[in-house]
Amino acid sequence: MNKIRIGVLVSGGGTNLQALIDAQNRGELPHGEIALVLSNREDAYALTRAKKAGIPATVVTKKAQGSQQAFEEAIAHRLCLYGIDMVVLAGFMAILSKNFTDKFPNRIINIHPSLIPSFCGAGYYGLKVHQAALEKGVKVTGATVHYVNEIPDGGEILMQQAVNVLPGDTPEQLQKRVMEQAEWSLLPKAAELVAEKLYKEGI
Ligand code: GAR
Repeated sequence: MNKIRIGVLVSGGGTNLQALIDAQNRGELPHGEIALVLSNREDAYALTRAKKAGIPATVVTKKAQGSQQAFEEAIAHRLCLYGIDMVVLAGFMAILSKNFTDKFPNRIINIHPSLIPSFCGAGYYGLKVHQAALEKGVKVTGATVHYVNEIPDGGEILMQQAVNVLPGDTPEQLQKRVMEQAEWSLLPKAAELVAEKLYKEGI
């Protein structure tokens, strides 16, 4: 059987995309292959990472599409063109509605930079998550990979990794530690877990 074709959705720097590419190159994604990178921002450095790795990269912006519905339909259409079986949200900073998530039940995963259910849901993304964790004064934070449904950060949890908050941390320092000690190892492991499951189910 063919490998599970993975579409990675991105918006920014793409360090989590890079972690997936590096894991694939090390043979740690045996049941999946990254077949498309899709960005909702034209200036995302993640697009450059995809090109350097020889992975097809494409852009769909909400502005060009005009509405949330048209935006989601354009993304779904692009994923269909590339025969994508499974979607990984790797720093994708747009909310996806039930219309979209219902098309890929248990086939979309997301990495979130906190231990869900803390500091998650609408409005919690990127550095804001770490700012909120520092404001609350938590001593431990981390990252979560979860299935994606219509509730922002509300789908079933697949994997979590805890990371210590250190005295005097800035949001940027905490973000970097959470990426290094949790996100970049967790996301490829979770992607392989889901790809293997889909592969064995013979989708
Ligand atoms: C990562 O920390 C990711 O967990 C977070 O954005 C960053 C993207 O970095 N995602 C969210 O906040 C989603 N709610 P990257 O572009 O370098 O992978």
